[in-house]
Amino acid sequence: MGRRKIFAGNWKMYKTYSEAVELVNGLKSGLKKTDGREYVLFPPSPYLKEISSLCSASPFVTGAQNMYYENQGAFTGEISPLMVKDCGASFILIGHSERRHVFHETDEDVNKKVKAALVHGIQPMLCVGELLEEREKGETVSVLKKQIHGAFSGIEKADAAKISIAYEPVWAIGTGKVATPEIAEDAHISIRKIMGELYGEEIGSGVPILYGGSVKPDNIAGLYKMNNIDGFLVGGASLEIKAFLEIINV
Ligand code: 13P
Repeated sequence: MGRRKIFAGNWKMYKTYSEAVELVNGLKSGLKKTDGREYVLFPPSPYLKEISSLCSASPFVTGAQNMYYENQGAFTGEISPLMVKDCGASFILIGHSERRHVFHETDEDVNKKVKAALVHGIQPMLCVGELLEEREKGETVSVLKKQIHGAFSGIEKADAAKISIAYEPVWAIGTGKVATPEIAEDAHISIRKIMGELYGEEIGSGVPILYGGSVKPDNIAGLYKMNNIDGFLVGGASLEIKAFLEIINV
């Protein structure tokens, strides 16, 4: 059986509500749905419920960009898995590099969030990726290993099978410096190997792995040709109707 193909847009902290609605309407009318592909939008959480409603009866589903791992409590400013679910989201981004590096999220936080998502039936999309200096020091694989081992700690095989992974090298995010198809492919193969060591060959070869980092209409085709790239997590280019349509209609 082929692996899941997932095309996702992470809007980060961009768009007013009316701009968000315009974007979704544009995407809905321009999508030429390809069989077997999944399309996920990660809007800012204040719009999650409305965007989920707008997406219902369309090929798009939604996800939240972040959440806390407790169900409720005195955690000012946070949102819970229950709230994410209540807003109609089916995915959750966990461990995005901006969460790790700007907001100092640890592998332990990431692990708690993955577990909380699984308890509530929200599909985790786990983000991993190395910094430029880590790549230059030859540490890419050990960084990926540490992040994956941390995120999956205590998670059973049946649950591991519900998780997708987005490889997002930090040096490629928002920089215009996309990874070459070969660099991305190599990292994806390493991720499969790490997952295979943890959960066996079936999970290693079956886990959907998305690439993210400066994905644009002019570099999508080369990346998508690679055997181990199953989809994309797009930032900047997912904010423009025309550019994102070119990517998801590839
Ligand atoms: P860019 O596509 O803007 O580089 O962002 C990638 C990303 O961080 C998606 O989560």
